[in-house]
Amino acid sequence: MTGVLPTPTNTPDSDIEFATRDRISTLQLERLRWSLAHAYENVPHYRRAFDDAGVHPSDLKDLRDLAKFPFTTKKELRENYPFGMFAVPQSQVARIHASSGTTGWPTVVGYTANDISNWADLVARSLRAGGVKPTDKVHVAYGYGLFTGGLGAHYGAERLGCTVIPMSGGMTDRQIQLITDFEPDAILVTPSYMLTIVDAMITKGIDPAGTSLRTGVFGAEPWTEEMRTEIEQTLDMNAVDIYGLSEVMGPGVAMECVETKDGLHIWEDHFYPEVIDPVTGEVLPDGAEGELVFTSLSKEAMPIVRYRTRDLTRLLPGTARTMRRMQKVTGRTDDMIILRGVNLFPTHIEELILAVPALAPQFQCVLERAGRMDTLTVMVEARPGVLSDQHSAASGTLQKLIKNRIGVTVTVDVVAPAALERSLGKARRLIDNRPEA
Ligand code: DLL
Repeated sequence: MTGVLPTPTNTPDSDIEFATRDRISTLQLERLRWSLAHAYENVPHYRRAFDDAGVHPSDLKDLRDLAKFPFTTKKELRENYPFGMFAVPQSQVARIHASSGTTGWPTVVGYTANDISNWADLVARSLRAGGVKPTDKVHVAYGYGLFTGGLGAHYGAERLGCTVIPMSGGMTDRQIQLITDFEPDAILVTPSYMLTIVDAMITKGIDPAGTSLRTGVFGAEPWTEEMRTEIEQTLDMNAVDIYGLSEVMGPGVAMECVETKDGLHIWEDHFYPEVIDPVTGEVLPDGAEGELVFTSLSKEAMPIVRYRTRDLTRLLPGTARTMRRMQKVTGRTDDMIILRGVNLFPTHIEELILAVPALAPQFQCVLERAGRMDTLTVMVEARPGVLSDQHSAASGTLQKLIKNRIGVTVTVDVVAPAALERSLGKARRLIDNRPEA
């Protein structure tokens, strides 16, 4: 592990990261007023939705008044496909991104030149908080293209002053060659693809801890504290968490600080967070777990009001920065497995797999239906060197851990190293083979 890094604060907006709560709230109220009015005046959907709810942007006297405004979900974005949620004429839209989603239409998002510039500032701020320095070489292995990961990370790293290696995702052998030859200091990648790269390094006889990489900025999918320990030890690096979503901007909505690694500071000068009860929609107090909701405060091309992310977390007070933190995301409401009345997430399984020394964090959860019963099989790889006659003991240990900690009986199928599908981006942890209801 490398030591704690100082926090240089030499970019123009850096003082806001340490501003008093009063200053942050004042700025939020001012920007929220602008954002709601901008949405209402320029996006027919918001005008209709606000009118139907009997609210007007001028009703926002206090930050808490935001609760009177209607939520936005993926459904509204789909209904307005492709450009119906844009608030500026197309001539002012500098870039379009889209998230593929698992079903149906992609979700389309747009940015003005100012939006792109703010995004670069926020990713630069995030990288700096995560311990990346302007003098670093940065290997970007998030996918480039319509996905926001690659280009979002790229512009931010350039804005910070880094030397950027725009590798994109995939071509694992090439990734390893460039990491070996170009000696980057930092890598920006999904945690599951990092594991794919590590496995391929080991197969080639390269020691992952011996590379030049000292910081890993991991996001775009849930990952656990146990996975952090695994990655930090295997690669001898600091592993920090970056969060974001296309609908709200892309990577850099929230970021963990390398000094504390205690959850992600939400960049509250540009995004107003709320946590709600996913069933009733009621706003929950800070500290309570629920669904994260965001309202953009500065976005021009596509302002977003009370967007329901489906990500589950809780809001916590600031530590290394004054802005509030969100706890590491446990999972999405869509990925929640309800097994005989017990709710669980693939991250819960990841945590327990990493407690069994014979098992590698390469796994998939397969849901099936036998008669009227749902069944869950955890397919998990053995670590290299673990003999096949040790598989059943490892399987029994994991099964017991899951039963004791989560309270459900599952089948555990330990397979040989490299038997499961490898992630090249976001891992597919959940395979639902149940017939459609
Ligand atoms: O994944 C943006 C991104 C790229 C974030 C690179 C970080 C790094 P989408 O494809 O729209 O955007 O997917 C957004 O991914 O709602 C979460 O469910 C999940 N997600 C993103 N970051 C994290 C994270 C990008 N750090 C969806 N932890 C979000 C857990 C994350 N889940």
